[in-house]
Amino acid sequence: MRWGIVGFGWVARDYMAPGIAAAGGTLVAIADPSPMAQASAMSGGILAYDTAEAMLADAALDCLYVATPNNLHADPVRAAVAAGVPVLCEKPIAATLDDAEAIGSVVAGHLYGTAFDQRHHPAHRAMAQAIRDGAIGRPIAVRIVYACWVDPSWSPDDAGGCNWRADPAAAGGGAVIDLALHGLDLTTMLVDEPLARLHIDLQRRIHDYPVDDGGILSGRTAGGILVQSHVAYNCPEVLPRRRLEILGEDGLLVATDTMGQTAGGTVIRRCARTGEETALPFDAALSPFAAQAAAFAAAVRGDAHDFSIHRDLSLMRLFDAAYTEARSCL
Ligand SMILES: NC(=O)c1ccc[n+]([C@@H]2O[C@H](COP(=O)([O-])OP(=O)(O)OC[C@H]3O[C@@H](n4cnc5c(N)ncnc54)[C@H](O)[C@@H]3O)[C@@H](O)[C@H]2O)c1
Repeated sequence: MRWGIVGFGWVARDYMAPGIAAAGGTLVAIADPSPMAQASAMSGGILAYDTAEAMLADAALDCLYVATPNNLHADPVRAAVAAGVPVLCEKPIAATLDDAEAIGSVVAGHLYGTAFDQRHHPAHRAMAQAIRDGAIGRPIAVRIVYACWVDPSWSPDDAGGCNWRADPAAAGGGAVIDLALHGLDLTTMLVDEPLARLHIDLQRRIHDYPVDDGGILSGRTAGGILVQSHVAYNCPEVLPRRRLEILGEDGLLVATDTMGQTAGGTVIRRCARTGEETALPFDAALSPFAAQAAAFAAAVRGDAHDFSIHRDLSLMRLFDAAYTEARSCL
């Protein structure tokens, strides 16, 4: 599978490129105006272009991964559709709901996926299977903590300059738009139900930037499962900050350090009758990005898959309404 990447920054270079290789694919070319990104690609024998259009016209690609800042997803997605190349686009679909809706129209009838890598993490797939097999009985509630520390001047390459994550126009918001959609999408995969209601409260508590540095989300799935998520850019990274719990009538699943970009973490099932704890086995060497690359490659080959712009847009609409209301109260 010959891959191209638009936006060869932190997530593309450190996680998706290794994920493509681990999934047996080949990263053929990147498009990024940054000389540093181009030099980094060319040092690995990868073709480098200034624009998605130039890359798509020149390199024979089977699929494209888009990892530009949130407000710059739409143009490369359009270019991929125009070139007839399947496209996997980073989350959120876009910085605004209008742009996300526009992408939804452009990709109609085209193979498109939003890169919610955490739904592909083998620990989360094992949890979903355990829930389907009745390991915790009927699910009652999903509780998530997904937090990190993002300094106003943070840059993955220590290159200094502006952090686009703290720029409302580039990111579409702050910690909540960056982090919370992962957990909400993951919840719908784990319990196999869409989200029906969502409320958000925000804070700008620690960092001096114009976007939220933390938020609490609460909601309910269509079948009545309660969902709660705390996401933050203001949590010191030595503290515990990646935890996912699913409470059911017969037990509790607790995943620690599985949310994020890396392989591994642990999942424990605690029995509601005896309190006994057992570890849930999964492939701790397979990263969510490798699993995601394999899943998208399989979709490109025509296999069954669970990428869906309709599902992702429904979530984005619910999220946007709650986020807009929350920002008006900040
Ligand atoms: N799934 C995850 O876990 C995860 C993690 C981090 C980031 N992301 C998402 O990935 C995207 C990129 O995030 P990042 O952390 O890698 O950012 P980054 O700033 O490290 O990288 C972005 C890259 O895009 C390039 N770029 C800017 N404008 C461009 C254009 N017009 N055409 C081509 N390239 C352009 C920049 O030069 C840079 O190299 C965002 O949408 C973010 O939300 C997802």
